[in-house]
Amino acid sequence: MRGDGAQVSVFAPATVANLGPGFDVLGLALGGLGDVVTARIGGAVGVRIAGVEGDGGALPREAHLNTAGIAAIETLKRAGVEARIELTIAKGMPMGSGLGSSAASAAAAAMAVNLLVGSPLRKVDLVAACVEAEAAVSGRHADNVAPAILGGLVLVRQLDPLDLIRLPVPEGLQVVVVTPDFELPTRLARAALPREVPLGAMVRSVANTAALVSACHSNDLSLLGRCVVDEVATPVRAALIPGAAAVMEAAQAAGALGSSISGSGPSIFALCRSPRSAGEVAEAMRRAFEAAGLGSRVHACAADCPGARQI
Ligand code: HSE
Repeated sequence: MRGDGAQVSVFAPATVANLGPGFDVLGLALGGLGDVVTARIGGAVGVRIAGVEGDGGALPREAHLNTAGIAAIETLKRAGVEARIELTIAKGMPMGSGLGSSAASAAAAAMAVNLLVGSPLRKVDLVAACVEAEAAVSGRHADNVAPAILGGLVLVRQLDPLDLIRLPVPEGLQVVVVTPDFELPTRLARAALPREVPLGAMVRSVANTAALVSACHSNDLSLLGRCVVDEVATPVRAALIPGAAAVMEAAQAAGALGSSISGSGPSIFALCRSPRSAGEVAEAMRRAFEAAGLGSRVHACAADCPGARQI
């Protein structure tokens, strides 16, 4: 173990979960948006939050209540290591926006702590540690933390034990996310979900998820777009987000391959064929939120982005 003051900083990206039909099973890493966590050896045995920047004071400073703190504690536990860790979290993305903010902090913390103590854990073990952090703050799902750590597009086949599958991202695919000035905590968006799903909706979800995976393997962008549909989580959540339905329609009308709610919302994402199309789609989506009375921030990037990494 390194001595007092040794430190490691890790960036982990924002993510788009669900991608339409893949509720809790599909997630995609974004480029250019995310959190940085620095883990440093110091203080007493255990994990402490030494500082948080960019959260407006909203996040808990107690390690066992903070997603990065919980991920760090779980990482040490799984590694069987006793250490004295101080975490500094720099938020570089909006919170409560459906872009995997808690997952980005957890992923960066887990990877930073693992590196600091000599990398005893594999990436899949870090994802498992982060799932426990997600469970404590928003719900037990891996579709944000898995792509935040592994990068690219990930399918979560099973949580216990974790079975993660990296899917190929079709060449040139672009993603746009538009985040309105409106907060929707994941916990609330999950509480709104139906407890039971009609058989027909289940059949269509399975068909769309399977076809989406096939589209990724065959580089079939048009099929990929046709699969971005969901009648289980999206309709109830769209009703909670002013303008959501109009924003998704505006994206399609402006040429998006497909559009849906990013994770639990309120951000809306769209998949596009080219950077030029992404620009047009983003502007149409921004205008649709504006028509619903909401300002918004637009982010566009390639869909094939790396996961958490030391900086
Ligand atoms: N799959 C999760 C949900 C993602 O939709 O609730 C939350 O970001």
